[in-house]
Amino acid sequence: MPEEAEAVAGPPAIVTICTTCRAPGVAREEAPGLRMLAAVAAAAEGLDGVAVRPTQCLGLCKRACTVSISGEGRYVFLFGDLDPDADAEAVVAMARSCAAAPYGFVAWKDRPEALRKGMIARVPPPGWSPEDGGAPA
Ligand code: FES
Repeated sequence: MPEEAEAVAGPPAIVTICTTCRAPGVAREEAPGLRMLAAVAAAAEGLDGVAVRPTQCLGLCKRACTVSISGEGRYVFLFGDLDPDADAEAVVAMARSCAAAPYGFVAWKDRPEALRKGMIARVPPPGWSPEDGGAPA
């Protein structure tokens, strides 16, 4: 992962954070996704190419904290099991890399360490359909 994200081209990478999932007995206002949302928003403040928003569910309810990174014409990455107290900077770094990469694709080796083990899915954008189905080089 480069220290400095490359120049951002096109629409922003959108970080969507579930603020709802939590262990049984944990109050809604104590959901770890709320801490993740605040930490990611703080880490992304003033940066180009990253938009941050909450959602009520990403369909990964047993894998909190859950986060997606997407954007117009970009791959969708889904992550789970993230630590709201440690992984916000990694989420923002990944979003910045997605914003700068063709089709938003960031290879595994270029992803922040914290996001490598938590990745659940990567879905190519509608406009990405090479004959062999391969990812962008
Ligand atoms: S409630 Fe968070 S992913 Fe479903």
